[in-house]
Amino acid sequence: MVIEPRMRGFICLTAHPVGCEQNVKNQIAYVKSKGAIHGPKRVLVIGASTGFGLASRITSAFGSNASTIGVFFEKPPMEGKTASPGWYNSAAFEKEAHKAGLYAKSINGDAFSKEVKQQTIDMIKSDLGQVDLIIYSLASPVRLHPDTGVLHRSTLKPIGKTFTNKTVDFHTGKVSEVSIEPATEEDIANTVVVMGGEDWAMWIDALKEADVLADGITTIAYSYIGPEVTEAVYRKGTIGRAKDHLEATAFEITEKLKDYNGKGYVSVNKALVTQASSAIPVIPLYISLLYKIMKAEGIHEGCIEQIQRLYADRLYTGKPVPTDGEGRIRIDDWEMRSDVQDRIAKLWDESTTETLVELGDLSGYKQDFLNLFGFGFDGVDYLADVDEMVQVPSIK
Ligand code: NAI
Ligand code: NA
Repeated sequence: MVIEPRMRGFICLTAHPVGCEQNVKNQIAYVKSKGAIHGPKRVLVIGASTGFGLASRITSAFGSNASTIGVFFEKPPMEGKTASPGWYNSAAFEKEAHKAGLYAKSINGDAFSKEVKQQTIDMIKSDLGQVDLIIYSLASPVRLHPDTGVLHRSTLKPIGKTFTNKTVDFHTGKVSEVSIEPATEEDIANTVVVMGGEDWAMWIDALKEADVLADGITTIAYSYIGPEVTEAVYRKGTIGRAKDHLEATAFEITEKLKDYNGKGYVSVNKALVTQASSAIPVIPLYISLLYKIMKAEGIHEGCIEQIQRLYADRLYTGKPVPTDGEGRIRIDDWEMRSDVQDRIAKLWDESTTETLVELGDLSGYKQDFLNLFGFGFDGVDYLADVDEMVQVPSIK
């Protein structure tokens, strides 16, 4: 069928298999162009199908020749109905990895569940023996707790008082004011359960118990800090509490991995357009200003540039991994440069529906958003009839 983008608010209901494949191929080409990384050989990526997790899988495989197992939660296609983009990305990734002679298998299911952890352990045991890198890159609005059966929902709310600031509807370019009511204690607790570090630690416990961790095992989860303008709704809001918890969990995990000379890290990454970040008020306006400035400075990066730099310049240099005062790896260093942030603070005040056209990079935002779903890529014929029933080779 011919597949077009069908937007509903901040999501797109369709995905283009050939465009998603092009996205994966472009990322592979980028990683290859940067040369070999003396990195991991057997990698588990939890949240491997989109965003930073997909970039981590690609960098592991095509930068370091690693075997990869990818875990994700995606919708397969049905006749006449496209799959979710992460499904098509994973299909394309496996196809390219297999072509390159690399082991790549995937598990589609709820990473928070005991069943998926067990399935992953069984796959590691039978195929790889052990893993030497575990990337934890889940972004989910809900978590069904495996011990209690309670379904927790995360929220994106300020804590303490109502937050009012500007935001932009990136579809229309309209800048408006939004107010978000403060979180309840329950909202905070639920967000920490969903996006904090408990599940990451459960994964490490299960993998350790199963004896599938290699000596020198490294595990990394992704976090965000960001600027003052988003602080109330992000870092000092409910999601920030979850990130505080995730960051604290890294130290607990390092403790658990002592006998393996292993280490748990958090990497603080740059703000990027993903399905998750588009839904957070205020963030799209910040990102559109950030993109404009970083592109003008020649320091703009997407997920793949970020993760390639994480591996090549931070993790696998043969030297100690540089961290900040709180033990975190920082690849948000260019975003947080004071000249970049000073400019954003100034442009923030000047941004209106009329001025943002010039001040911000709304077209870059829209382009990235379309790209998430496989639309807007050069070299893809979007008028062509394509097969929506593309499968992930390793998933039967
Ligand atoms: P994303 O939405 O692109 O990727 C999420 C991944 O998690 C997908 O592979 C999805 O299939 C998987 N997933 C979700 N629920 C699942 C479940 N129950 N079971 C198995 N897999 C599941 O998100 P993105 O943006 O790559 O985020 C990854 C991490 O990076 C998050 O911790 C996020 O907070 C962090 N981060 C994101 C930034 C951004 O600007 N997007 C900036 C800095 C950090
Ligand atoms: Na991800």
